[in-house]
Amino acid sequence: MASVMEAFNASATAYANAREATILATDSSLISNIVNNVNIFSVFFTLFAIAVAYDQVTYWRLKANIAGEPLKIPFVGPFHESVKPSFEKYYAKWLTGPLSCVSVFHKFVIIASTRDMARKIFNSPTYVKPCVVDVAHKLLRAENWVFLDGKAHVEYRKGLNGLFTRQALETYLPGQQEVYRDYFQEFCDITSRNDGAPKPFVYMFRELMCAVSCRTFVGHYMSREGVKQIADDYYNITAAMELVNFPIIIPYTKTWYGKKAADQVIEAFSNCAAKARVRMRQKGAQPECIIDRWLLQQMESERYRERIAKGEEVPDEEKPQQLLRNFSDYEISMTVMTFLFASQDATSSACSWIMQLLADRPEMLAKVREEGLRIRPDPRSDVTLEMLENMHWTRACVKETLRYRPPVIMVPYLVKKDFHIPESNYTAKKGSMIIPSTWLSLHDPEVYSDPDTYDPERWISGNAEEQGKNWLVFGTGPHYCIGQTYAVLNLICLLHMMASELEWTHEITPTSEQIRVFATIFPMDDLRLSFRQKVDGETGVAA
Ligand code: HEM
Repeated sequence: MASVMEAFNASATAYANAREATILATDSSLISNIVNNVNIFSVFFTLFAIAVAYDQVTYWRLKANIAGEPLKIPFVGPFHESVKPSFEKYYAKWLTGPLSCVSVFHKFVIIASTRDMARKIFNSPTYVKPCVVDVAHKLLRAENWVFLDGKAHVEYRKGLNGLFTRQALETYLPGQQEVYRDYFQEFCDITSRNDGAPKPFVYMFRELMCAVSCRTFVGHYMSREGVKQIADDYYNITAAMELVNFPIIIPYTKTWYGKKAADQVIEAFSNCAAKARVRMRQKGAQPECIIDRWLLQQMESERYRERIAKGEEVPDEEKPQQLLRNFSDYEISMTVMTFLFASQDATSSACSWIMQLLADRPEMLAKVREEGLRIRPDPRSDVTLEMLENMHWTRACVKETLRYRPPVIMVPYLVKKDFHIPESNYTAKKGSMIIPSTWLSLHDPEVYSDPDTYDPERWISGNAEEQGKNWLVFGTGPHYCIGQTYAVLNLICLLHMMASELEWTHEITPTSEQIRVFATIFPMDDLRLSFRQKVDGETGVAA
């Protein structure tokens, strides 16, 4: 038995050993096969595939039920489209639904296209705050007031309201007219140098708007060369402000040039604030520009505080309307920079379209001229605020331009906490960018009949003026444009003066009506114009 067992055991042992040996052999060949086949590329490929899958699943999770491409181009998304944005593509996107999305690099972007959806975003400060574009924090400085949120923002903004009152706007007008007249002459000279032939003018209008803004903001504290430098620098700032940028600033890229330019502009405005501080301390100094006015208000507030500190009983009527703290030159400069940032592209866009649309509609331009002649018969006299307020047709042309070609088509906001939007049964996740767009609201056929026709009359005999809910040109909610009254009056002033003093001709090309997106919107052909000064007989003044 024992021998049988031994034999069995022996044979069993021999069998087991053999099987183990086989298994071991198989295992080690599998492992060595794997090890042999594992190289850096397959590790990389596996990790890459996991990352692609993760990127894709994250996109689906954030996208949920809203419109958007079913698949994301791994990691980058449609980055190429944000490098060269096309109006047609944006427009097509807005039509895909009230909420749609796109994911570029790590950024998930939600687009709110309809009036009600856009308004909802603008009016939800608990969930969203303006984010301009990512790189704006680096260019405008993270501590800038425009990035303040909630109560801090409301308080800071209140202190700026005094810079845009009717009385304040009136004091900026002489400086604006001075700039316009200077540039009108230059426009005519440009045409003469070009033998009377039309030339692209959008760049010149950018400079004009920069000059008029600088004069309004910092008066004569900056030389014409300084303004020209800022206009040139500013182009680099706009170029850097693409909707989605590479996350870090790499030397010699657009964002690098943009940052350099922003630093220079902030320094230039700081110098202006320092000069204004000296001038405004002089007895009887009158404010001529925004920084003058702001400093004056700060000085008045300080004087009031001093009187109170001395125990004086100050009558209520001597208390400044708004008690301001003192702001340093640097703080003033950063704030003025935000005004320039907010106004430069938008007003350049508006001004370009006004010039094009009216040159192409001579009968409407003739009415601007008639109105101007009636209200300011002598084109050499000063334009007053009261005159501008009475130019109803000119105002209608400006407002219709802003509706028909709204300069700001999108306003990027950042979702600061998960934001449920019941209308779409969708939750925008914290950290996403959410962008209300203004176009569909301003081209809503139920509110503006025949919305793709330029028709200033709708502001006179029609009911366009009553459609406040759709008028998103300047946004709405706590961040609505602080400069809107100034912007509209300034454009009325420009159109009126231009129509009174100049003749301009637009060369219509096949792309004149098409839209180029460069932060705001411009005619695709860069607006080919020629100018000539009117002679006295043509201005209504006897030759
Ligand atoms: C045609 C010209 C202009 C257009 C179309 C325009 C449009 C806009 C829009 C759409 C917004 C965002 C509003 C929102 O988020 O609800 C805005 C904000 C702003 N705009 Fe304008 N703007 C123009 C001119 C100006 C001018 C001339 C100034 C300054 C003098 C200015 C200063 C600002 C500022 C400071 C903000 C940010 C306000 C805040 O965050 O509280 N804008 N603008």
